Amino acid sequence: MIDSIHALKTAVPPGRESLLADFGRAKSGGGASSVLVPIRSLGEGHRARIAAHLLALDAQDRFLRFGYQAQDQNIQAYVDGLNFERDDIFGIYNRRLELIAMAHLAYTVNPEFKACAEFGVSVRSKARGRGYGARLFERATIHARNEGVELLFVHALSQNTAMLKIARNAGAVVERDGTESEAFLRLPPATLDSRIAEIMEEQFAQTDYRLKIQAKHFWDFLESLQSMRQGKR
Ligand SMILES: CC(C)(COP(=O)(O)OP(=O)(O)OC[C@H]1O[C@@H](n2cnc3c(N)ncnc32)[C@H](O)[C@@H]1OP(=O)(O)O)[C@@H](O)C(=O)NCCC(=O)NCCS
Repeated sequence: MIDSIHALKTAVPPGRESLLADFGRAKSGGGASSVLVPIRSLGEGHRARIAAHLLALDAQDRFLRFGYQAQDQNIQAYVDGLNFERDDIFGIYNRRLELIAMAHLAYTVNPEFKACAEFGVSVRSKARGRGYGARLFERATIHARNEGVELLFVHALSQNTAMLKIARNAGAVVERDGTESEAFLRLPPATLDSRIAEIMEEQFAQTDYRLKIQAKHFWDFLESLQSMRQGKR
């Protein structure tokens, strides 16, 4: 963690130190949206872990996430169809390198709506209420802004209080249509600060991920030594 903070310090250009101050405040501050969480972008190599995360959602969560009663084969088809070139996927890993939360920022193929993106998210049930959902929304918002997106929308069931709260807290307008709701968030244009903030977040998350991999290898190695010793005994 210290290494990653140091890496960030050296990455901040002169005159933009306020960004680092914001970053530090996020770390020590309270409240859901100010939790410092390493959120990294996910690519092709993470497809299997994305599938494992989504397949672990129970029936109710699948309904809330996809808007219908998604079966295992529907989820597998969704994961197989993820286009990492076109869309952006973000994730949070725990120390065991399990994907405990993920967000999908989907862009439309219709050029008429190229300034729009849709946000979808899921957090493992045991990891809820820690601000991960809100942080993923924040992360996706910054990225979308930097990509030139002007309107971010979320489709949610009206009963999905947590999701609608995340959107409302971020300033989205929610339109309810019976059991379904749409949240619309208008994004300001990208600035130098929003671009640097994203680079810093990504660098921090990548460093954190590498450290987690090293730690996991180390513990796996110790475990294998221990079982060898026990075998000999
Ligand atoms: C929706 C979901 C992503 C929220 O994740 P989370 O990490 O628990 O959310 P957070 O901890 O960031 O909480 C966000 C806000 O919702 C509130 N909240 C969380 N769970 C809540 C609940 N069950 N009921 C009411 N409010 C809730 C929090 O208090 C917080 O509001 P606050 O900042 O004003 O206090 C998670 O519940 C989930 O994965 N649900 C299943 C999939 C889904 O519904 N996806 C959304 C549709 S795409």
